[in-house]
Amino acid sequence: MRAVDIIVKKRDKQELTREEIDYLISAFTADRVPDYQMAAWAMAVLLNGMTDRETTDLTMAMAESGDLLDLSSVVPASVDKHSSGGVGDKTTLVVEPIVSASGLPVAKMSGRGLGHSGGTLDKLESIPGLRTNLTEAEFIAQLREHGIALISQTADMAPADGKLYALRDVTGTVPAIPLIASSIMSKKIAAGAPAVVLDVKVGLGAFTQDLESGRHLARLMVAIAKLSGRKATALLSDMNQPLGRAVGNAIEVKEAIATLHGSGPADFREHCLTVAAHMLLLGSMVATVDEGLELAARSLDDGRAWERFRVLVSAQGGDVSSVDDPAGLPVAAHIEPVAAPRSGFLSQIHARRVGEAVVRLGGGRETKGQQIDHAVGVEILRLVGDEVSENEPLFVVHAATRGELERAKRDLLAAHRWSDEPVAPLPLFYDTIHSE
Ligand code: URA
Repeated sequence: MRAVDIIVKKRDKQELTREEIDYLISAFTADRVPDYQMAAWAMAVLLNGMTDRETTDLTMAMAESGDLLDLSSVVPASVDKHSSGGVGDKTTLVVEPIVSASGLPVAKMSGRGLGHSGGTLDKLESIPGLRTNLTEAEFIAQLREHGIALISQTADMAPADGKLYALRDVTGTVPAIPLIASSIMSKKIAAGAPAVVLDVKVGLGAFTQDLESGRHLARLMVAIAKLSGRKATALLSDMNQPLGRAVGNAIEVKEAIATLHGSGPADFREHCLTVAAHMLLLGSMVATVDEGLELAARSLDDGRAWERFRVLVSAQGGDVSSVDDPAGLPVAAHIEPVAAPRSGFLSQIHARRVGEAVVRLGGGRETKGQQIDHAVGVEILRLVGDEVSENEPLFVVHAATRGELERAKRDLLAAHRWSDEPVAPLPLFYDTIHSE
């Protein structure tokens, strides 16, 4: 087989066989297919799509490109979660400790920023010393001992996805539904949790911008989970405006810490409790979502979730004093509030544009492997539906240089839209899809 024939076949809108997909993925993993051919193939998939069967074959080929863990021999039950990618999405940092504090082990393999969307690993690495590159043996030992682990994709787990993910990030090929579904599910299958909650983002800052494509992605992932013998729930959640208030690595960690202490934004807290409740339900810790919400809220409010976060940080080598006093986290040289240019009701805060502005500030990558600046970002102060007066603070920019601060101000003001009429606030969730 030749990679070029497989690229041409997809370019010409034909369905690939399982053997062709297996060949492409194993040759790419073994460095026998170069990045430029894989990028051309990814672009052909983005333009021409894949059938559900091709997507399932791609998922299994990527999962099987490395080790497949089986966590059932490590802990009696565990649950995983994954977000399809958004702006300001620091949910994992709050939800994992809540679920672990509620008695259900959580084992998660997370990703880095992708395109305009942030990644949990980049956020966590704002904490001095914290390691996310645990080996499989360390991951398993930590899960057994502490019931909570959050790691990067090891070289041995779904390595094909690791390589393809980095390539997609810088070749404009992220928003292809089959590539997103197979990327997420190959990691979930490789990491071995028997149940997974999928937080599928929908809106301007998501890779699926309308509810229909969000539903398609959610159904596809739930079907793949079922096929591989796992339980899954997909939540369709809003990503038209950023989630929470902070967008940027260290400032998102600070917001997660505030939420774990009970002082984060109420809407972000509700989002986290809902995701946690579905994880607890899927992990059979509770019988209904309402019971899950109650248990999750208790674990958060009595401080146990915060203790689990500290355990996670310390188990992975992080400096616990820098989360006890978040002043120890990276801080940008220039921090400045920006005032509303007019009075009115906010009708849009374009999440993708906000994410792109943070990438331009240095908080995400524009080329493969680029170093990021953990300190930079933006804090959104007002949300869609809010009535705002002229000159009231609208957002705060955290930048490394004066010039970058000025550019971000312009980019961010352009991301806000106004109305003279009242505007309804955006919902947190749109729908839920279960595997059973
Ligand atoms: N998250 C992933 O892990 N992969 C994608 O392709 C998008 C979001």
